[in-house]
Amino acid sequence: MAEKAKIAILISGRGSNMAALVYAGKSADCPFEVMLVASNDPDAPGLALAQAEGIATFAHPHKGLSRDAHDAIMHDAIVGAGAEYVVLAGYMRILSDGFVQKWSDRMLNIHPSLLPKYKGLDTYQRAIDAGDRVAGCSVHLVTAELDDGPVLAQTEVAILPDDDGDRLASRILIAEHQLYPSALAKYVTRESDPEWILAQLRERALALEESHERASFGAPGWRVGSETTGKYFAYFAQSHHGEASIALLVKTTGIDEQTALIDADPDLYYAPKFYGKSGWIAIRLDTGQTDWDHIADWLRKSWRMVAPKRLTNMIEIANQF
Ligand code: GRF
Repeated sequence: MAEKAKIAILISGRGSNMAALVYAGKSADCPFEVMLVASNDPDAPGLALAQAEGIATFAHPHKGLSRDAHDAIMHDAIVGAGAEYVVLAGYMRILSDGFVQKWSDRMLNIHPSLLPKYKGLDTYQRAIDAGDRVAGCSVHLVTAELDDGPVLAQTEVAILPDDDGDRLASRILIAEHQLYPSALAKYVTRESDPEWILAQLRERALALEESHERASFGAPGWRVGSETTGKYFAYFAQSHHGEASIALLVKTTGIDEQTALIDADPDLYYAPKFYGKSGWIAIRLDTGQTDWDHIADWLRKSWRMVAPKRLTNMIEIANQF
């Protein structure tokens, strides 16, 4: 298995979600490991549990410090522990913009509602008062706005006729403990998830002028031009002809360029099976280190090679200004 993603968990209290993550992280096939549990409250009960489990802990009260100053102290502790992700689990602090920026796309939170419903506090009673049939929990990426980042996963929890806030909260908590470790595991391994890779590729291929998607022998492909006369400039290959890798297939100028690329970087490029001497090249997308700007450049280059003159001419004219 690839190296485990290193995470730091921030708590302010009980830390039951933290515990769920710690125990999930202990199994050999879990793709993350907990490096640090940190808190703004030295008395947070969760810290004692983390310590007992042999996990490094850190606490620094926020009292008397500006938000920026306290966040900077937490940030240093997180980085010092070698963490690559920050996982908020009942961390009752509003974060400074600077901290959110630093951990952009690498900080997750769990919230006890089906976001975008009921951001903020008292989510259970608000769901009951609204007459909702289901409540639930959401794992989301953290952005500057409170409880507002892209939702990664949700679990619905039924509201029972005699529910009060506490009863509902305790059932949602059970769901949280299942959801958080699985959503985090999925997120830290997203770069090798074929669905995620395909979505990245699709977004960039379809951003090119007059391009559309059409499957070719079951593999997603992208063409430029009309539905009838369009030409393929890219294919998504997932174990397509028995290769183990996930790759993008694009056109080079020919066999010479293809050979030169493979010689220069054999871990990234290879000659796709059954494409003969056509000059199509495979670029691996499953190395975990894909440079998506580089991929976008390749898509454009390949697109240019088959795009109708009227489109490429327009670009050349535009480039002169
Ligand atoms: C959970 O309900 C979580 O959804 C919310 O804060 C609570 C934390 O509980 N963000 P715990 O400390 O993990 O037990």
